[in-house]
Amino acid sequence: MKGPEDDAGLTGKVAIVSGGGAAGDGIGNGRAAAILLARAGTRVVVADLDLKLAERTVDMIKAEGGHAAAHAGDMTKEAECKRLVDAAVDRWGRLDFLDNNIGIGSRGSVVDEKPDEYRRVMQVNVETMFLLSKHAIPAMIKTAKGGSIVNISSISALRPRGLTTYTASKAAVIGLTQAMAVDHGKDHIRVNCICPGPMYTPMVNRGNGMSEAARAARAKASVLKIEGTGWDIGHGVRFLLSNHARYITGHVLVIDGGVTLQGPERDSAT
Ligand SMILES: NC(=O)c1ccc[n+]([C@@H]2O[C@H](COP(=O)([O-])OP(=O)(O)OC[C@H]3O[C@@H](n4cnc5c(N)ncnc54)[C@H](O)[C@@H]3O)[C@@H](O)[C@H]2O)c1
Repeated sequence: MKGPEDDAGLTGKVAIVSGGGAAGDGIGNGRAAAILLARAGTRVVVADLDLKLAERTVDMIKAEGGHAAAHAGDMTKEAECKRLVDAAVDRWGRLDFLDNNIGIGSRGSVVDEKPDEYRRVMQVNVETMFLLSKHAIPAMIKTAKGGSIVNISSISALRPRGLTTYTASKAAVIGLTQAMAVDHGKDHIRVNCICPGPMYTPMVNRGNGMSEAARAARAKASVLKIEGTGWDIGHGVRFLLSNHARYITGHVLVIDGGVTLQGPERDSAT
């Protein structure tokens, strides 16, 4: 017998994926989520600081017959977040989902970190999620009578290992997620969070790329002895946004191949 949770509820819906671009043809966490949502029939606004990166994701979706639109903007600015939400609603008449995916890295202790850099990481990693949610939630209530949000945190929030400001920002994302879940359950909006482990995405593969030895060390840190990819996160995002997860809110989903179960070695490559 079928229940209300059997239908994924993704077809014909509208999603925003922030930070949905990725360098070249690389599969970042946001790009993977955008592609997987489009494969399920969701129309996706792919937003990024860099229009070309967003357009590449949109091209990939359109090449498969999906529906997507690229949008450029700096989501640390409230006016840009409002403009993005308005663009999604203007284009497709509704907003159902938000994948809050923007994030940048940091390295070093509080002693090493420059205060301006601390503020910048908190602004990009936490404030973008606050601002986008602030404008997306009323639009979801108005146009779809509910919705679903996934905020991307990190296992660094659960197991600090030398990325102190990043850890603080990603721990704030967990708190924000749980508070938003409590605040907006009454609005039929679910809010969940994913903590990715060391995924091989363009974010960690920047510049000259990562050495084979570093990639092997990351794979070894998993109890499964395999490397994570953006697709692993994309599938998690799509599940949490979908109706299959209709009874899940305020949850912190760790997708890390069991890395956090292992010993406290430092991972300088994440
Ligand atoms: N890759 C990993 O191993 C890993 C691990 C844990 C968590 N994460 C998190 O996953 C998320 C995505 O990571 P990724 O590896 O796919 O990164 P990525 O760098 O490939 O993608 C992030 C995108 O965000 C965009 N962006 C940055 N600042 C922006 C701004 N102010 N406004 C609009 N767009 C902006 C970038 O242009 C980039 O295209 C991040 O939140 C990251 O912290 C990644």
